[in-house]
Amino acid sequence: ADKIIIDTDPGQDDAFAILLALASPELDVLGITAVAGNVPLSLTEVNIRKICDLAKRTDIPVFAGCDRPMQRALHTAEHVHGATGLDGAELPDPTMPLQNQHGVDFIIETLRREAPGTVTLCPLGPLTNIATALTRAPDIASRIRRIVAMGGGLFEGGNITPAAEFNIWVDPEAATIVLGSGVPLTIVPLDVTHKVLTTRDRIAAIRAIGTPLAEAAAGWLEFFERFDEAKYGTDGGPLHDPNVIAWLLRPDLYQGRLCNVEIETESELCVGMTVVDWWGVTSREKNATWIRDVDADGFFALLTERLASFR
Ligand code: BDR
Ligand code: CA
Repeated sequence: ADKIIIDTDPGQDDAFAILLALASPELDVLGITAVAGNVPLSLTEVNIRKICDLAKRTDIPVFAGCDRPMQRALHTAEHVHGATGLDGAELPDPTMPLQNQHGVDFIIETLRREAPGTVTLCPLGPLTNIATALTRAPDIASRIRRIVAMGGGLFEGGNITPAAEFNIWVDPEAATIVLGSGVPLTIVPLDVTHKVLTTRDRIAAIRAIGTPLAEAAAGWLEFFERFDEAKYGTDGGPLHDPNVIAWLLRPDLYQGRLCNVEIETESELCVGMTVVDWWGVTSREKNATWIRDVDADGFFALLTERLASFR
């Protein structure tokens, strides 16, 4: 199985990414690191453990990472995720422990221990933990197999400002470090996640699995980003983070292009914007595969089938 570390700020859509990974025998989840983002770190680490409990995977080591961006004050997104970060389903307090080690140290230690080129990092929130690890231990860059991150937007613009997507906007300095690291990168932006809509039929199919886990999952989808229906005029809101895991499992469901991606960090108007050279109008280094298209029916078939494998 392919080894991955999930770095995350749950978040209902992060929860789907974690569940999809835990349900997939193709992937070996070495650990899950919490970062501050959608809600503060004190909640994201608890939420990860609640999700692992729900999946009956208390064997997964969970670590708390950075509690704020590298250089800026933390901005959270309770208006999207609710006060807990996981509104939409009531989950009991976690029973499994939080590891003592700091999440950044876990990332560094794991990459130094495992064979080079075997561990993939899956960041689903602000890139603070990943960039801090790369800064503190530059030797790990050449050992990372790939980073597959949810963040940014080109054709769809931003979702927290007109120019910026939330994960990049919260810690643009961290995103700059990751994009300049030389590590092979795949980016799953709003351009693709806005095509993955939580329609009533798709939610009903998940609920029909009939397990407590499926009921919680359906509850999250009924809460999460429903306001986007009115905004976009669609049936259902976008589902972002599980596309990172689905890309690992089924890259054939996705289409993208290797191109240069840079981050705006200075302009007040555009801070956190992903500047993507989709048309190759510069000679800047092609540092990331930018995903643009998805077979959304294929994605939901995969997600629903895997959620049904939890008993
Ligand atoms: C991203 O921001 C968060 O609200 C979601 O969990 C996702 O990672 C979408 O912009
Ligand atoms: Ca997230």
